[in-house]
Order: sequence, then C-alpha cells, then structure tokens
Amino acid sequence: MTHLAIVGTGYVGLTVGACLAHLGHEVCCVDSDADKIRSLRAGQVPFLEQEMPELLEEGLASGRLTFSADPGAVARAEVIFLCLPTPQSPEGNLNTAVLESAVRKLGPSLAPGAVLVTKSTVPVGTHRRVLEWVGRTDVHAVSNPEFLREGTAVRDFLEGDRIVIGAASEDAADAVAALYQGLRGTVLRTDPASAELLKFAANAFLATKVSFANEISRLCDGLGASIDAVIRGIGADPRIGRSFLEPGPGWGGSCFPKDTSALAYLAREHNVDLPVVAGAIEGNELQFEHVVQKVLASLAETPSPHVAVWGLTYKAGTDDLRDSPAVRIVSRLIERGVRVTTYDPAAPRGVPGAATSSDPYSACAGADALVVLTEWPAFRSLDMRVVARRMHGRDVVDARNLLDAQAVSAVGLHYVALGRSMVSAPLLAVSA
Ligand code: UDX
Repeated sequence: MTHLAIVGTGYVGLTVGACLAHLGHEVCCVDSDADKIRSLRAGQVPFLEQEMPELLEEGLASGRLTFSADPGAVARAEVIFLCLPTPQSPEGNLNTAVLESAVRKLGPSLAPGAVLVTKSTVPVGTHRRVLEWVGRTDVHAVSNPEFLREGTAVRDFLEGDRIVIGAASEDAADAVAALYQGLRGTVLRTDPASAELLKFAANAFLATKVSFANEISRLCDGLGASIDAVIRGIGADPRIGRSFLEPGPGWGGSCFPKDTSALAYLAREHNVDLPVVAGAIEGNELQFEHVVQKVLASLAETPSPHVAVWGLTYKAGTDDLRDSPAVRIVSRLIERGVRVTTYDPAAPRGVPGAATSSDPYSACAGADALVVLTEWPAFRSLDMRVVARRMHGRDVVDARNLLDAQAVSAVGLHYVALGRSMVSAPLLAVSA
C-alpha cells in the first residue's frame, strides 16, 4: 500500500483516485473547489460516469479514499498525480497555467523523494517545466498519460491495454509501475518526451480513423454505395480493424479537437508538416457541414423550418457538451434560420438559441424534420408511430446511423442516414 495524492477531481482525477484506492492504496484527492470536495465526501459524483458511484462508495467506506480542499494534504504522499485541466489556448497550444499554479502551490508541502506524475495531456517538454515550477531538486517528474474514454473511464483504467510511464529516473518509474500491479495492461517504459507525445499521436490517429470513415461515407452518399458494407469489408482486415470507423456527425469532446490542434501547433513550432493530421481536422469540419446540408436539403422549400434534434452530448454515455458536434450542428442550423427544439437524456440545459424539451416525443411536436446527433441506445427503442404522429414533416436525418431504418420507414417517415443512399441495398453477405 502506497500513500497517494491526486490533484484535480475531474473525470480523470476521480477515476485515477477511485481506481487506485480500489487496488488497495491510500488515496487523498485534492481539489480547490470546496463544494465539489463536500459532495464527493458525501458520495456524490458530479458527472455521468459508469461504475463511478459504486467505486466512490467503496473507497469512502474502506477509508482508503479521502478528499481535501487543502493543497497541504499532499504532504504524506509518495506519489502525486496531476490531473488538472489543460485547455486549448487561442493559438491552438495547450494552456498549462492551472497546472503551473497548482504545482507551485504544492511544491513546499511535498515530501523529499516524492514523485510528481503528470496524467493530464500536456505540451511535450512539460516534465522539465514541472521540475522548474516545483522549485525542488529532491523530487521526480514522471509522465503517465491517461487513455480514458469518458463514460467508460473506470473500465478503461482497470482493463486498459497499456500503461505508459515516461521517466528519466528508473526508481521513479518503478514507483509508478508498482501502483498498477495486478492490472493486465502492458507497462511501456520510455523517456518523458515520448510519453507526452504519444498521447497526442494516439488521439490524432483515432480522430483520423473517424475522419476517414466519415470521408468514405460522404463518398458512399455520392456513389450510391453502403458505408456499412465498406466498413465491414475493410474492418475485417486486422491491419485496419473494425473500431473507430463508425460514421457520425464528426468527432468532438474534451480530447480529440484539443489534442489534434495541439499536435498541429507543435508541428508548426518545429517546422514539420503534418498533412494527415491537418486533413483529419479539415475533414471533421466538412462532416459538420455535410450533416447541416443533409438537414437543410430535407427542409427545402419549407417556410420557417423547425427541426427536432435528439442528442446533444458529443457521444452517448456522458453528459459532456464540450466541443460536441451536435452543439456545432445545432448552432449552424440556427444561424441559417432554422428553429430547433432539442432533447438529450443527459444534457437538459440545451444550446443557446434552441428550445429544449424534456422528452423525445414532445421535441418532435410540429417538427418539419427529426435529426439524430448522439448515439444514445435508448433512441432505438422509441415508438416511431408516436414520432410520426407528432411530426409535421416526414424526414428523419440520422447522423449516427442508429435507428432501425425499417421501423422508421414502416410508419411513413423518410429515413436519411450517412453513406446509405441505397438504404434498401443488402449488406455484404458476410456472416458475423
Ligand atoms: C478519447 C480517447 O478515446 C481516450 O483514449 C482519450 O484519453 C480521451 O479522448 P473520449 O473523448 O471520451 O476519449 O471519446 P471517444 O469515445 O474516443 O470518442 C471521441 C469522438 O469520436 C466522439 O465524438 C465520438 O462520437 C466520435 N467517434 C468515435 C465517432 O464518430 N465514430 C467512432 O467510430 C468512434
């Protein structure tokens, strides 16, 4: 058992803290937001994250997971995880001001020999700056990037495929590796700069995969081919793989947009061209507009059009609207004079300029078209007969290829998906 501190209790910090307490360590989570600390002590998780309420309860009950608003609480810790926000700066780089201020504050409290682990995604070279900020020569800096998806962060931590440890000191790397003992993920040890860079490269690659799928789906629309068949056909090749090829309204969230921009910034700073990453970013913008155009096409000739939108979060299973493609698309529709009513099961606040509805059927009342922007599985089981009765128009634009096309068509609605202009064409005859 090791004494640990986690600085920052967002979805990354809380996941890391609760999971390490679950693995048997003594963990104190520190956050400057005293209200948040109070709710966490009371067992309340401030965001939607599967398995987190149970894990928090377990940690509190065992006494191994504690919370404090005092930065001095790190004094007992042998290893301190920095899980703080690094938002995008206007130039595209990541802003480390919050990280810097926290490290400067906790510096004097650190025990000699303490290991400061950066979990947050940070500009390459931050490991050196952490040591400057802390102003001590008797502590170590390690980069240990997270690969946690929002919504499934707990599973990703406990069953992740790799644990990357970037450290200049072998002892510090050993101390961090020991914390993960018992997990099945392969431990990859490297230098700190490579660990910092590979986090950006991982997210840029995944974003590129999605942009590629979206690009091929746009071509399918033009050619009358089926994206489902193409994805199954290419995904069967293990060199390509099936995951992250789901076409959608574009990628978003707290990581992909920010990390791809930061990688592009880094490349500019070093005079290196990254045409693949630049193309993935540009392709994502095209995809937002592609969906907007599909919706506008379905509204052609409709005076004062009104659309119902199902889904606002950037993906299902989270309540996060940060950089959500759905929000972007709704805003663009409003800019083009479309009246929008939104429904999202996890984001009741909605988007400025759009009306919100607390149930999916009322959102459709009088709508000229229905647009699906987040892949909430529950949307599949909604009664399309009720939807058809409530709607004024007939088009359903499904930007997640989520709904059952036949169920939609069966009630007299016109189903429009992505890359499926031949909706009735059979998929490739591949057995599952
Ligand atoms: C991502 C990375 O997966 C994770 O490893 C990293 O640490 C943080 O960033 P997250 O942002 O939670 O996680 O979401 P993810 O599930 O990766 O999806 C990102 C975006 O891509 C979402 O907008 C999602 O809807 C979109 N996406 C994903 C698709 O459109 N199609 C796909 O096939 C997969």
